[in-house]
Amino acid sequence: MRQLPEDFTLGVATAAYQIEGAATEGGRTDSIWDAFARVPGAVIDGHDGAVACDHYHRYRDDVRLMADMGVQSYRFSTSWSRVRPDGGDVNEEGLDFYRRLVDELLEHDIAPWLTLYHWDLPQALEEQGGWTSRDTVERFVEYASSVVEAVGDRVPTITTLNEPWCSSFLSYTAGAHAPGRRSVRDGLVAGHHLLLAHGLGVDVIRGFAPDAWVGVTLNLTVADPVDPTSERDRDAARRIDGQFNRFFLDPIFRGAYPDDLMEDVGHLGLADAIQPNDLGSISAPIDLLGVNYYHGDAVSYEPPAVPLSQDAPTTREVGSPYPAADGVHMHPRGLPVTSMGWEVQPEGLTRLLQRVHEEYAGPALVDLWVTENGAAYDDAVADDGAVHDVERVAFLEAHLGAVLDAIDAGVPVDGYFYWSMMDNYEWAWGYHKRFGLVRVDYETQERTLKDSALAFQRIARDRAL
Ligand code: FCB
Repeated sequence: MRQLPEDFTLGVATAAYQIEGAATEGGRTDSIWDAFARVPGAVIDGHDGAVACDHYHRYRDDVRLMADMGVQSYRFSTSWSRVRPDGGDVNEEGLDFYRRLVDELLEHDIAPWLTLYHWDLPQALEEQGGWTSRDTVERFVEYASSVVEAVGDRVPTITTLNEPWCSSFLSYTAGAHAPGRRSVRDGLVAGHHLLLAHGLGVDVIRGFAPDAWVGVTLNLTVADPVDPTSERDRDAARRIDGQFNRFFLDPIFRGAYPDDLMEDVGHLGLADAIQPNDLGSISAPIDLLGVNYYHGDAVSYEPPAVPLSQDAPTTREVGSPYPAADGVHMHPRGLPVTSMGWEVQPEGLTRLLQRVHEEYAGPALVDLWVTENGAAYDDAVADDGAVHDVERVAFLEAHLGAVLDAIDAGVPVDGYFYWSMMDNYEWAWGYHKRFGLVRVDYETQERTLKDSALAFQRIARDRAL
């Protein structure tokens, strides 16, 4: 038995577009994901979030389920297109949904943890340039103000963005996610504007919710050279670390893009996007950093014998998300993989938390949270109606163990959110990948606690692994 620290928070996470459904109800208009899902070949089977888990109508039942599971905090996101349809005026009906959700959580003693942007930009704003337009930053600040003004007094933790790497490079450079653009410059500019939206967002959040804990969630990797003695492999790892991790960490914590990164990508459009004072705004002090971790990467300039496949097998072509890592390859290490093809590498999480604490968060006196970690497996419903997802149980325990290892090594990690509370819309994979602790039958919307939900419940009850 390994005890969880007394004030360590156990939570679960979701995101608006992935679960809410009710895409045309209550005044909501299209987000970039509604539009992207209609692009032929962009999402497997053309799946979209029109109904998803119907959480918009079933949130009360979902909150009750979370309470049954012993969830202490629920990390959710608000839909910009619901709160400000088309990125325009405030829609009170949209805000009302989140007011009701927050009330319901508080009534069940679950701490609401709000993310303002989990990738669902209003499509109307994309048509005006999306994240490559500086105006979108202003629109984000308006949107953030309206949400925080409505619920900020009852939400203890508010984060600006979820995984800006995905909403910039994966979306505007690789084209794998909405809006599906494929441009090195666009990804870099989008990344800079997202960082600016975060920094300016921090200020407005503090204005409307002075007592809230404020921060941002980044997805980070652990880039290891395949051959540590090879200078070229070390350079490959440096590039991936720069273009995945340090592109975001350095501006936020140090108010500057790293020199080596500027050398690699500055001339590709990033330098032109930076205006005086931007980095000062981006480095606004934060109270916490959310780390999302799924797996690390073994990188080399040599191609692997068998290439790693991690993209959704859509018919529409996608490119590399890295602006300046031509010829860099990700290598499989022979570790077990989830049904996403992602390697199961819990020790990477320990190392990542240690590194982020030592180099960034610690000196800034910022505590860390794991805001996402989880696994998709091809779950089957057994004859007894249960889902015996033994692999997910092992994944959860191994990764919580890895967090405890980091804590034992002196890293202040305040909590862990499993992704996801329930099966949901997995972006370009549609409904084909199931990450939930709770199974969702998309025909009937019936929810079933998987064995992993029962494991979570047991850990929450015993406060021990
Ligand atoms: C993360 C996303 C989340 C979910 C998981 C599997 O990158 O933040 O929405 O799709 O991956």
